[in-house]
Amino acid sequence: MTQILEIRDLKALARRRVPKLFFDYADSGAWTEGTYRANEEDFAGIKLRQRVLVDMSDRSLETTMIGQKVSMPVALAPTGLTGMQHADGEMLAAQAAEAFGVPFTLSTMSICSIEDVASVTTKPFWFQLYVMREREFVLDLIDRAKAAKCSALVMTLDLQILGQRHKDLRNGLSAPPRLTPKHLWMMATRPGWCMKMLGTNRRTFRNIVGHAKSVADLSSLQAWTNEQFDPQLSWKDVEWIKERWGGPLILKGILDPEDAKMAAKTGADAIIVSNHGGRQLDGAHSSISMLPRIVEAVGDQIEVHLDGGIRSGQDVLKAIALGAKGTYIGRPFLYGLGALGKEGVTLALDIIRKEMDTTMALCGKRRITEVGRDIIAE
Ligand code: GLV
Repeated sequence: MTQILEIRDLKALARRRVPKLFFDYADSGAWTEGTYRANEEDFAGIKLRQRVLVDMSDRSLETTMIGQKVSMPVALAPTGLTGMQHADGEMLAAQAAEAFGVPFTLSTMSICSIEDVASVTTKPFWFQLYVMREREFVLDLIDRAKAAKCSALVMTLDLQILGQRHKDLRNGLSAPPRLTPKHLWMMATRPGWCMKMLGTNRRTFRNIVGHAKSVADLSSLQAWTNEQFDPQLSWKDVEWIKERWGGPLILKGILDPEDAKMAAKTGADAIIVSNHGGRQLDGAHSSISMLPRIVEAVGDQIEVHLDGGIRSGQDVLKAIALGAKGTYIGRPFLYGLGALGKEGVTLALDIIRKEMDTTMALCGKRRITEVGRDIIAE
């Protein structure tokens, strides 16, 4: 096996170990995938200032996100179907994040439930909320997250309808996979994945099954989103959700300064500059290119976080330099999980930590809390 030195190596290994329909689900973007690519590529265009002969001993990446201590400003993003990248994926990723000292965010569309994750962790994790038409179910989800002592609610704003991802349609994505010859082949060629999956009974959307009344067909994400997600969601809904939840609230999916101003008015604790990893509005700007404008618009009123395109510790550092207080990784930890399970998630975090630490030192800084625009080259 080749040495694993960067996130790209984990991606290559995950591609060999995870059935194609689930690897592709994580890897895909909407339509042309132009925004997905821009998220990654625009980081490369930002150049760093090399500084020399400054004390670089005793460095620290420790900081806070929404007032909560983090060992580095990198949370695990909410990602759907994580338990299909690897058996019990959400539980393993949450444990890896906890040991590393960074937040884990559980998606509403997860395989393992809120209660599953709570049963294997000792510190609070974060919960991501999708708002469904069935309000009772939403209220119940919020209450379940409270009961599990989740320490932040991440409300996603940019997925009332699902962006079209061609690969998912071509693969006939469903969870669990249908037993068609095509899916059987995709699984048969990944025996390690199958063995582990046979060893767990967590193979469907456990936050939803047995909790939502009107769920008819969960197998197709597209059909289910069309049927269940509320297309009339509005800023008014943020109010009652905030009130019902009563704890730290993070609004995810802001890409426009005008929306950022609206979000700041809600009294939420943070916003996440995000285009859903390029999975929703293809043709939108990259997250990192919009970050400075959003920080300028609301940075003095609300904490600004960023997700989308982060593939290295350098990318995290660039986002922090441009005004983000924290960042999220989705695909990098999923690749780690698919490649090597819990150890792979830890490895992904460790790769990012080392890259961030070395880069920070070579830019002449010793503390992440001192990193600002002055490390960015003109
Ligand atoms: C769900 O959040 C997805 O992007 O598939």
